[in-house]
Amino acid sequence: MTIKTHRSALKSLFLSVVLAFSSFTSFSQEVPTDDASIAAGKQLFDTNCRTCHRVSERLIGPPLAGVDERAPSLQWIVDFVRNSSAVIASGEPYAVNLFNEYNKVVMTPFTSLSSDDVMNIVGYIKAEASKPKDDGGQQAGQAVAGGDGGAPQYLNLILIGMIVILVLLVVILLFLLSAVKRFLDQKELTEEEREVVHSPITWGTVTRSRGFIFAVTLIVSALAFKAVVNALYSVGIQQGYAPRQPIAFSHKVHAGEYEIDCEYCHTGVTKGKNATIPSVNVCMNCHNQIKSGTLTGEAEIAKIIRAYNENKPIEWVRVHNLPDMAYFNHSQHVVVGGIECETCHGPIKEMEVVRQHSLLTMGWCIDCHRKTDVNARGNAYYDKLLELHEGSMTVEDIGGLECSKCHY
Ligand code: HEC
Ligand code: HEC
Ligand code: HEC
Ligand code: HEC
Ligand code: HEC
Ligand code: HEC
Repeated sequence: MTIKTHRSALKSLFLSVVLAFSSFTSFSQEVPTDDASIAAGKQLFDTNCRTCHRVSERLIGPPLAGVDERAPSLQWIVDFVRNSSAVIASGEPYAVNLFNEYNKVVMTPFTSLSSDDVMNIVGYIKAEASKPKDDGGQQAGQAVAGGDGGAPQYLNLILIGMIVILVLLVVILLFLLSAVKRFLDQKELTEEEREVVHSPITWGTVTRSRGFIFAVTLIVSALAFKAVVNALYSVGIQQGYAPRQPIAFSHKVHAGEYEIDCEYCHTGVTKGKNATIPSVNVCMNCHNQIKSGTLTGEAEIAKIIRAYNENKPIEWVRVHNLPDMAYFNHSQHVVVGGIECETCHGPIKEMEVVRQHSLLTMGWCIDCHRKTDVNARGNAYYDKLLELHEGSMTVEDIGGLECSKCHY
């Protein structure tokens, strides 16, 4: 036996050990296609990945459709998801390129996910990507409640009515005038009288005429009346209030373009009374990586980092504010009632600056409680009541107009 063959034998022994070892750890992986795995994958994707990824659109991370084909291997995906920094640090070129392309945003490590979990997620992504595209209108938030404030429609109708009447009056007057002139022409008139009758209508004669002054006074007072009524209707109403915030935080960018769930930041909204405003730590989950924005450059994000470093809370100015004597609970409306945020808060996803969309008056609350059916689906407690109310039961029917429900 020569040294050479000896060495190659050793080498093959070594290789087979390595192979045995690696096949032991990386069992044969496959993308699952059964419904149970796909459902499990969807669940995991929604809770862990949706903040940064979509199946077919670029968000904070890449669109994930087709990763199983473009990534180096399925094992690579598992490793990357469980600890992307380690894969990038190993210098693996696909990972390094991707990392650079995504502005060096570090993906959260998911060490608690098993290989099977990750494969279920990939299975879900694959199933989702092969579905025919539906650009469903599911996103179109339904902004319903909360009228447009100010005086009601009928005041506008009155105003329009007044103008129409005025125009008619003018027409009638002109008609009478020419009739009178024609009548006078047939009479014997002195030279002086004739001059008066045929005096040309000039700007001066018109503006000094009684009719004109009367018409102008009427229009001006109608407009003033409308303005006063409008003002009265909005006494104490903060609708439209949109204070300047200490940091130019944009819901349009975060909740709109990047589709970050409301609940990711307003964590209390499904749990209790207050929706809660996120602490600076939540901002830092992303902004320790994302240091400049396309709209405002670096200055605004620098304020977040400063607040974080100095351990000072950001002093957001409150937009919505009910008086203390009124009780409003978010989870009751969002979870139990199944009402969308947009129904009360309007098109938040399009707002650069949050503004108060609804009236927030007692009448506003009561109006909705009168009109809205309780969300009784699959709720055994409500089933019996629902029978009593012949299939339709509004919030009013369950006592939603009782003073004590909203007042301590
Ligand atoms: C905080 C945001 C964030 C979260 C949460 C996140 N990712 Fe990522 N992901 C990224 C970014 C950013 C990249 C691009 C690579 C980089 O910058 O590290 C990426 C890349 C990937 C890649 C490689 C994509 C490709 O094109 O090859 C996969 C696979 C992946 N993520 C899967 C997941 C899965 C699965 C989850 C949930 C368990 C998840 N990610 C959660 C931000 C995130
Ligand atoms: C990335 C974090 C983040 C996300 C996601 C987010 N918000 Fe906000 N939200 C904030 C911050 C910070 C404020 C306080 C500053 C302000 O008013 O703009 C706020 C304020 C608000 C306010 C006004 C609160 C007040 O002072 O009365 C409402 C209402 C609101 N958000 C609703 C939503 C809705 C609805 C969504 C989802 C469509 C959403 N937010 C998504 C961070 C977020
Ligand atoms: C889940 C990730 C995430 C979280 C959490 C987050 N942001 Fe952002 N933020 C982004 C992304 C992505 C951008 C867009 C960067 C760009 O335009 O390139 C951004 C942009 C910004 C900008 C600059 C806007 C512009 O385009 O100029 C500001 C200011 C900002 N965020 C403030 C905040 C504040 C304050 C919080 C905490 C209440 C917060 N962000 C939480 C992801 C996040
Ligand atoms: C039925 C109407 C209604 C719905 C639905 C609703 N809100 Fe509100 N929201 C209010 C009212 C009223 C206030 C003012 C509460 C107060 O001042 O006590 C408020 C206040 C807030 C605030 C200010 C801070 C706080 O905790 O009070 C935030 C943030 C907020 N809402 C976010 C949301 C989000 C996110 C959703 C959807 C998940 C949502 N809201 C759904 C009516 C609603
Ligand atoms: C967009 C419609 C809507 C608006 C606006 C609204 N609510 Fe409600 N509210 C509901 C619904 C639906 C329920 C029933 C939830 C359930 O199934 O228990 C409810 C239930 C309640 C309850 C519990 C009633 C009970 O009998 O258990 C209280 C208290 C309440 N709302 C207070 C308020 C207050 C205060 C406001 C105004 C600041 C308000 N709501 C505005 C739809 C609304
Ligand atoms: C669905 C909730 C709800 C119910 C039911 C309700 N209120 Fe109110 N009420 C409110 C809210 C919210 C305000 C604060 C309105 C504002 O700030 O303009 C308010 C304000 C008031 C005020 C202060 C005056 C004002 O208009 O600002 C009085 C008084 C009042 N309510 C009495 C009552 C009485 C009496 C009942 C029972 C017949 C009742 N409320 C039932 C929600 C309710």
